[in-house]
Amino acid sequence: MSKNILIVTGSNYTNRVYEAFYETKKLGHKLYLLSDGSFEPTAGIFEKHFTYDLRKTKEVLEYMNSQPIHFDAVTIKTSEWLTPLTALLAKEYGCIGNAPIVAFNCRSKYHMRQELKKGGVPIPQFRLCKNYKGLLNAVQEIGVPCVAKPVGGNASYGTFMIQTEKDLIDLEKKYNFSIEYLKKKAIDEDVFAFTDEEMDLMGVREHVDMITDYLVEEFMAGPEVSVDALVQNGKVTITGIEDQIRMEPPYFLQTASRLPYVCDEKQMSIIQKIVEQTVHSIEIQNSATHTEIIFTPQGPKIVEIGCRIGGDDLHDTIWEVTGCNLMFESIMIALGISRDYDIKTLCHTTTQVLIPTKSGTITEINIPESVKTNPSIFCIDLLLKPGDKTGPPPQSFDYIGYISARGISPEDAKKNLEDALKKISINIV
Ligand SMILES: Nc1ncnc2c1ncn2[C@@H]1O[C@H](COP(=O)(O)OP(=O)(O)O)[C@@H](O)[C@H]1O
Ligand SMILES: [Mg+2]
Repeated sequence: MSKNILIVTGSNYTNRVYEAFYETKKLGHKLYLLSDGSFEPTAGIFEKHFTYDLRKTKEVLEYMNSQPIHFDAVTIKTSEWLTPLTALLAKEYGCIGNAPIVAFNCRSKYHMRQELKKGGVPIPQFRLCKNYKGLLNAVQEIGVPCVAKPVGGNASYGTFMIQTEKDLIDLEKKYNFSIEYLKKKAIDEDVFAFTDEEMDLMGVREHVDMITDYLVEEFMAGPEVSVDALVQNGKVTITGIEDQIRMEPPYFLQTASRLPYVCDEKQMSIIQKIVEQTVHSIEIQNSATHTEIIFTPQGPKIVEIGCRIGGDDLHDTIWEVTGCNLMFESIMIALGISRDYDIKTLCHTTTQVLIPTKSGTITEINIPESVKTNPSIFCIDLLLKPGDKTGPPPQSFDYIGYISARGISPEDAKKNLEDALKKISINIV
């Protein structure tokens, strides 16, 4: 039977994601899109493209309610900000998905920590801070080294480490820079808060300001991985583990990654166990998930979990490595179609994030045709363009883009990427 499926998004998709939509249509279903209207989706896929200012959660719900259509499934790819809206819409239409409070608990790092603590998941100590004075107190209570991060953050925006007592000297400056950056993002882009009314709607008891509230956490030392897993009726299937490389402290922007993560069976079962414990503690039932883990000397600890597919290249990279299309699988989960997964390793990949090396205006980004048509290069995405202002943290937490290469081994993928990177030039003046 033909079903109406609503996809919620903050941005357009890659060809691989569109393949999931073609496959879904082949099954006889109808697809609809809800976005902020900032892009034009590929023609011939969606029956209708609903557009609204998606920062206004309650208004969007009213707008969608006024449409003379019922949806049988609602899902999302990656847009972290829109996971609570997706859950609210799914609830409204009586669809399969996560409860709104579950999506909110994944959005607010403070609420996430509370839920994980209740579930006995290994996490660092944490304190909620409402202003600079609160932040300073929290840093003194938790002690150095520690990490300060916005409650509603994403992609390490505004996140920084306080390494030693000496860092207290410019703590206020770093905090103010970050708050300014986050406030600007909230107006210009997709970082947004929820009103008290919206938080009530989701069943949030202790309200937070997603933009200016901060969390101070005990610093977790060690290597970090992210785990993409599909959850159907609470059953967790890992589809990709990414080995992450981040910049040197005090900032945490990801600079490179490798997928699959090469490890033995013992470590694999440790990862499976902690992801399951995290998913169950936060009560994710039906969706893709993205979990970050740091392997500390005291054992693995959870950085965070999202009820969505991993960002940047991850959707396409996981497809390259396993043949599993996470967007298609997310739609199947939302439709309630029982799935069996066979996750293989078909190749190795490595991704380089293009981080600005200095502050200024981008005058040129040169990626020659030979790189674009190189069969080893499967993903090139630019988020900034000539004319855009950029810089390393703390002025900005933006990155220019990323590029991914495949190979028959991790070393081969690395070599293919390095060869391509040598041909790329980016000018900032
Ligand atoms: N308590 C912590 N200890 C060590 N590193 C941390 C801690 N919290 C965050 N980080 C680092 O900062 C990055 C961003 O923090 P995270 O909580 O994942 O927020 P975001 O939503 O911005 O990704 C993490 O991937 C990790 O590298
Ligand atoms: Mg993260």
